[in-house]
Amino acid sequence: MKKTVLVSGGAGFIGSHVTVELLQAGYEVVVADNFSNCDRTCFEGVKKITGREDLPLEVVDFCDEAAAKAIFHKYHIDAVIHFAAFKAVGESVAEPLKYYKNNLVSFMNVLEAASEVGGCNVLFSSSATVYGEPEKVPVTEDTPRQPAMSPYGNTKTMCEDILQDTVKASGGAIKGILLRYFNPIGAHPSALIGELPRGVPNNLVPFITQTAIGKRECLSIFGNDYPTPDGTCLRDYIDIVDLARAHVFAVTRMMEGKMKKPCEIFNVGTGRPVSVMELVNAFQKVNGVKLNYKIAARRPGDVTAIWADPTLANNELGWKAERSVEDTLKSAWAWECHLAGK
Ligand code: UD1
Repeated sequence: MKKTVLVSGGAGFIGSHVTVELLQAGYEVVVADNFSNCDRTCFEGVKKITGREDLPLEVVDFCDEAAAKAIFHKYHIDAVIHFAAFKAVGESVAEPLKYYKNNLVSFMNVLEAASEVGGCNVLFSSSATVYGEPEKVPVTEDTPRQPAMSPYGNTKTMCEDILQDTVKASGGAIKGILLRYFNPIGAHPSALIGELPRGVPNNLVPFITQTAIGKRECLSIFGNDYPTPDGTCLRDYIDIVDLARAHVFAVTRMMEGKMKKPCEIFNVGTGRPVSVMELVNAFQKVNGVKLNYKIAARRPGDVTAIWADPTLANNELGWKAERSVEDTLKSAWAWECHLAGK
């Protein structure tokens, strides 16, 4: 019988790509989403890509404890991947309680529901943000975590700890994997699913594509006086499909009982630092478009340079990022053009 994975936040940017990869790898998926930060576009796209018109969807807010528990009673869930969370760094600074309440309560409800049905495998979507401004790059999973720069970042660190403690106390009933994502970018090669930021995008690539299509006037490059080769920040941009594939490897490792510890941590990155300026130039070159940009002041809270040492994920999960930055930037542009009906 097929194993079933519950994907909370499964209609969002990362969740929709993960759902596609899980279905294509032979898993059954239950998508759960409250559509608070996305519309139905990506859910419909997932159905089209996979030919699964009957894909189960539960419209649920995981902050509702009874509703979260009901899902675990309705389906036999072998693993849950938890994406359902707010993710806007600036907003989290302005409205910290909204972030703490939503991101922590929803995750605790998932863990409680999983415990109530006797346990299951839990994969949590963490972030490189837990490393703060690292003293040494690239960062390994042993690089010390730093105090977070924002309530959003704090919720990632806290959820990591909540999962670690819950796994420890569960006596083997709950197993956990924390995936620390670097900077996910791009879209599915079909251009049927991708990132759909609400309002003005915070992240670099959606801002680039929206500027190139004419929705935004000008991209601001936040600082060119950082101590890096070209003065702009260095990040590890990882293709969204590569990132999604890492989840399939992690889920399979859990299902097959191959974990070496009850709660494991993996960096999900490429190991390749790319500067903001390099990314902007690559975008223009591969897509043959000219981007209106200017150099602006540094954005408070940005770290100078961070990229992954992905050795552990490469060796233990048997996963490796494969897509080039150029191909990923082509997919990001194809998605923006698809949205614009071009
Ligand atoms: C940000 C969050 C991180 C979160 C991640 C989700 C912060 C401090 N970090 O990472 O916690 O997990 O998004 O994807 O917000 N840039 C510009 N102009 C823009 C937008 C960005 O120059 O209009 C630059 C930034 O200064 C940075 C790089 O592009 O150097 C990447 O920025 P972004 O896409 O926002 O990601 P992070 O800040 O790395």
